[in-house]
Amino acid sequence: MPSQRTVYEPHASVVKNSHVPSLAHYEEMHKKSLEKPEEFWGEIAKQFYWETPIDHKNFFRYNFDITKGPIFTKWMDGATTNVSYNLLDRNVRNGNGEKIAFYWEGNHPDDYSRLTYKRLLEEVSRFANVLKSRGVQKGDRVAVYMPMILEAVVTILACARIGAIHSLVFAGFSADSFSERILDCRAKVLVTSDGAWRGEKLLQLKAICDQAMSKCAQKGHNVETCVVVSHLARVTSPSGTPYKSNKTPMTDGRDIYWQDVVPQASTSCYPEWMEAEDPLFMLYTSGSTGKPKGVLHTTGGYMIYAATTFKYVFDYRPSDVYWCTADIGWITGHTYVVYGPLANGATSVLYEGTPFYPDNDRFWVVVDKYKVNQFYTAPTAIRALMKFEDDLVTRHDLSSLRVLGSVGEPINPEAWMWYYKLVGHERCSIVDTFWQTETGGHVLTPLPGATPMKPGAASFPFFGVQPVILDEAGKEVKGEGEGYLVFARPWPSLMRSLYNDHDRYETTYFTKFPGYYCTGDGAKRDADGYLWVTGRVDDMLNVSGHLMSTAEVESILTEHPSLAEAAVVAKPHPVKGECLYCFITTTEHGVFDDKLIKELKQIVRERIGPFAQPDVIQNAPALPKTRSGKIMRRILRKIAVNDRDVGDISTLADAMVVEQLFATRPKNA
Ligand code: WT7
Repeated sequence: MPSQRTVYEPHASVVKNSHVPSLAHYEEMHKKSLEKPEEFWGEIAKQFYWETPIDHKNFFRYNFDITKGPIFTKWMDGATTNVSYNLLDRNVRNGNGEKIAFYWEGNHPDDYSRLTYKRLLEEVSRFANVLKSRGVQKGDRVAVYMPMILEAVVTILACARIGAIHSLVFAGFSADSFSERILDCRAKVLVTSDGAWRGEKLLQLKAICDQAMSKCAQKGHNVETCVVVSHLARVTSPSGTPYKSNKTPMTDGRDIYWQDVVPQASTSCYPEWMEAEDPLFMLYTSGSTGKPKGVLHTTGGYMIYAATTFKYVFDYRPSDVYWCTADIGWITGHTYVVYGPLANGATSVLYEGTPFYPDNDRFWVVVDKYKVNQFYTAPTAIRALMKFEDDLVTRHDLSSLRVLGSVGEPINPEAWMWYYKLVGHERCSIVDTFWQTETGGHVLTPLPGATPMKPGAASFPFFGVQPVILDEAGKEVKGEGEGYLVFARPWPSLMRSLYNDHDRYETTYFTKFPGYYCTGDGAKRDADGYLWVTGRVDDMLNVSGHLMSTAEVESILTEHPSLAEAAVVAKPHPVKGECLYCFITTTEHGVFDDKLIKELKQIVRERIGPFAQPDVIQNAPALPKTRSGKIMRRILRKIAVNDRDVGDISTLADAMVVEQLFATRPKNA
């Protein structure tokens, strides 16, 4: 395997015509972005339409130092614009109306369609008018629970057009999780579809929404309108026969079909001019206390940062076809399926299905079909696909590919090499993009034509980003070394707050190290100055790129009447990256058996979503605790991987517990 010294130079064919053709170019641009941010971002902002112009003397302000007052970040404050206008009208006016914005590829290979910029603008305007007719106004929240269909993009941009705040929830979350998120932001409207196929699995999305809405109603919040896209009847089911809808129940006065209202609506809708610092959307991410955090992104800064990272990180050129496989319900789907590509007038593929349907080569079939130039996916997908024979990849023509992206978790060198050699034919640049829901866009990443690649290194900061590594005492680690990854200043798309909870924003991200935004990740800098993200340093787990907190899973588990206590740790997993390993202590009357294990797995699926199901549940009559009663997770992580090198256990109240747990590890662990 490649060592940290192995470096892969960008291929000459990638360097040629690339926006940033050498490391020296990158360094010069990065320097300018830090020294003259007004000039750097001002030139970019000029390419967009501003209804009220930018005040360049007051281009950006911020405070990252909690000891000096409230934390805030403002970019281009006072200027007004509309993001949907910039993504749609501006491109249509520039002569790109007939350009394809999206090729939609359905779950079933027989289902596909396309949408031009002009048509997208019309559909967005129509749906914006529908939302207005249902009383949605600037600042209102719209909850979205959608599959990967064009109406999801239309919904997002229709909200942006009228200044409503969209709040997407990944359509793999349970009704419980969804209702918690609807309640937190008190969404007025919900947009969903009757259902969707993912591979051979039917997702009954409207039924989940009904459960979520009734849970909200029990807690005093009524969703006023639920718009339902009738999707199942227009697609091919895995059996080939059309799906016979067993009639999605519709509630009178509240539920309406998209198809009954959108086609009649007017195709013109005057955009709502928004302040640069007005909210654009919110998106929930897991917090270490268990309660999800509504990350709030604003208009101007998010727009220019999404546009700029998309252009440079994927080295996008106007004739390219780009494909990001991320679900629209995650931040990657927001920034790099919708906002970034459309801000550049790009043509993208929007894919509804899974990598494994109808066969395990579907990704490569689609790359070949649309002659994709940039392909962006997650390490968990790469690891899952690596298991199959090479021929599934090599039998397809992948010569259109130029840039391969990775996102969501550290990519292990084995997966990186497979991606580089088999998919990229050692010609493509791999961009290992490190970022977070909170950062809005890429913050550490190689650039395709500029950065010599090291497998597994997120490498260098994007323009405007100033990373710092700190030790436990908050002292900067200069040169080679490892510690906490923090940022010394904001870039345009850093989140501005947590919805309705600015205090939590300040304590979560700005209190541990005053003066810095704290990512919660660790990083090391090697002798060549490359940054390597080492993973979370807090009690968070990353399962297939889905972030969740140990506290969240523990509190759900302990609601089971047979449980006295639970402690959850991350265990490395060959495909998922990490999986959940749960230690549980039953009550006096509780019985640890297969039935209990099954029930516990089911509870977690129901309460969070199927992706959160624990892999291992171990009976722990006692947990390793300090004398003050704190569970020592460090030791539990060792037990989970059967590593007896547990280190210092002198602070444990009862050292025998450790030996017992090693001796009773379950067979499937
Ligand atoms: C966490 C953020 C950013 C969109 C998807 C996840 C981990 C993400 C990388 C990477 C190492 C990564 C971090 C981060 N992460 N990308 N390239 N290398 N780690 O968004 O759900 O907000 O998760 O994902 O731990 O903090 P998210």
